[in-house]
Amino acid sequence: MATEPALAGPRPDEDLLATRFAQLLHDAFVDYHDRFLEITHRAAGRFLARDWRAHQIDATERLGLHTAAVLATVDAAAPLLPDDPLAARRCWVTARRRYVSLVARRMDLELAETFYNSVTRRLFGIVGIDTELEFLWLGPTALPADDGTRGEYRTFPVEGSVAGCVREILEHSPLGDHLAFPDRDAHRVGERIERSLEGVWDGLDAIEVLRPVFYRNKGAYLVGRLRWLNRVAPMIIPFQARPDGVHVDAVLLSESDASRLFGYTRSYFHVLCRRPAAVVGFLKSLLPVKPVAELYTSIGYSQHGKTNLFRALYRHMEHSNTRFERARGARGMVMAVFTLPSFDVVFKIIKDRFAPTKRTTPEEVKRRYKLVFDHDRVGRLVDAQEFENLSFDRDRFDEDLLDELRHDCTRNVTITDERVVLHHVYTERRVYPLDLYLREMGPERARAAAIDYGFAIKDLAAANIFPGDLFPKNFGVTRHGSVVFYDYDELALLSDVRFRRLPPPRDYDDEISDQPWFPVEPDDVFPEEFRTYLRSPTVVAEVFEQYHSDIMTVEFWQAMQRQHADGELPDFFPYPPDVRFDLD
Ligand SMILES: Nc1ncnc2c1ncn2[C@@H]1O[C@H](COP(=O)(O)OP(=O)(O)OP(=O)(O)O)[C@@H](O)[C@H]1O
Ligand SMILES: [Mg+2]
Repeated sequence: MATEPALAGPRPDEDLLATRFAQLLHDAFVDYHDRFLEITHRAAGRFLARDWRAHQIDATERLGLHTAAVLATVDAAAPLLPDDPLAARRCWVTARRRYVSLVARRMDLELAETFYNSVTRRLFGIVGIDTELEFLWLGPTALPADDGTRGEYRTFPVEGSVAGCVREILEHSPLGDHLAFPDRDAHRVGERIERSLEGVWDGLDAIEVLRPVFYRNKGAYLVGRLRWLNRVAPMIIPFQARPDGVHVDAVLLSESDASRLFGYTRSYFHVLCRRPAAVVGFLKSLLPVKPVAELYTSIGYSQHGKTNLFRALYRHMEHSNTRFERARGARGMVMAVFTLPSFDVVFKIIKDRFAPTKRTTPEEVKRRYKLVFDHDRVGRLVDAQEFENLSFDRDRFDEDLLDELRHDCTRNVTITDERVVLHHVYTERRVYPLDLYLREMGPERARAAAIDYGFAIKDLAAANIFPGDLFPKNFGVTRHGSVVFYDYDELALLSDVRFRRLPPPRDYDDEISDQPWFPVEPDDVFPEEFRTYLRSPTVVAEVFEQYHSDIMTVEFWQAMQRQHADGELPDFFPYPPDVRFDLD
């Protein structure tokens, strides 16, 4: 059988080079993950010292590590690659085999594969997928079964009371020595667990708890599950650090509360684990509906999350015949947005030209999306993943959508007879656009969403974010009924905006003028004008008058700015207030 030229064996000098590439990749990956864990390791100290600013700085630093390591590796490898493209491929394929043997026994093997792919895609400018160069496991992802004796979690049998078992768990946790009231807290948690199981399960065999603590912003969490026979249910204990020590703040026992904690509108946890796959496997057992991709991302491995998202998408397309079509809702002036009806992700592509009212550039749009990636998303901003050079069969695209891409997105999309190549695309979880939700849902749901819409704007303000474009079409409603924001092209930090009162008109001409009669700078915002955006449909106007009229005042925004300038960091609890103990 004829061999592919690139797969033919390496020449002797290429052989040495391949070994060198494998070592280079290996060292860069190990260094990346060591640094990642080193930063992650700081989280416990930051929590106990209540040094939230330092934790934020750590989080931002950690977010940049992967890309920096990939770029540095590409820069180091590129000048060494043979000039002849076939020789370069041949050499890289050999390097890949050597790399596999170097990382095969590592407990973070899957992350090592993703790292290799990121470097390879960039180095070779891969469009679509390259089966020869890339690691491409497109079969089901098997997460390791962990028996709990050596692995990432511990089993605590329930022998006496539930509270007694919880006391054991708290004592053995890394935060055990710092608890202000361990007995009180164990008692409260035990009682809640017993109450939640009443009439549901006839017993409780054990509680299994992941060894590492999950840290994020001001919170720390023990993540576990209740077990009875072959059933499991989530049990997550959030902690707060207070001046007198660590307190148990709540216990989350429902799948929905647990799922929100791991939601895609939150920043990533800092979790010191040796085997990310085991932690993700454990989480998946609690949250069977949550995609593996999002679970990896939730513990900070967002690049591997992307790998998993891509694999899930690819598998989905193999096993379905739906086509990409325009997303429902108002058309974007900056983004072309489409989706596969059966896969709950939207794809967003920056258009070549924007409507004249938009004074922004593609680079500026990317900068805003990056800002959201680095910022605390406080449960109100949808996480977006950035992909390059995805390629799909053209017949999987609806004709209307192809027309839009062909006319509006020539810079970022290439359409051939066979394929559609997306050179630059963001993906986000699909939510229900708020403008549609308010129109289509019954009065009760619509009202609840309108109320939460105001709280979303307020939470964002508290997190130093001004969304820019407050129309309902730029917000969406999640499965859990929370209102979140997804349109980032006009988003700004509150500290970069000047909130102004409208000057009174000087005369009748001013009054009837549809243009401002006073000088306006680009960063000026007039909250009194928000009434215009927030008046339709009627339910929004009503609810905002009743609950959120402060949003339409300069004072509200300036007070938020002062709060930031003073360095205050508000709490954004990722669980409902009624599960908190001190509010009992
Ligand atoms: N995550 C999402 N889930 C569901 N639909 C979405 C999502 N993101 C965008 N959409 C849909 O696509 C439309 C355009 O998206 P988006 O608002 O992000 O683009 P834009 O071009 O920045 O908009 P604008 O013209 O308001 O600036 C939205 O109005 C909404 O209908
Ligand atoms: Mg929009």
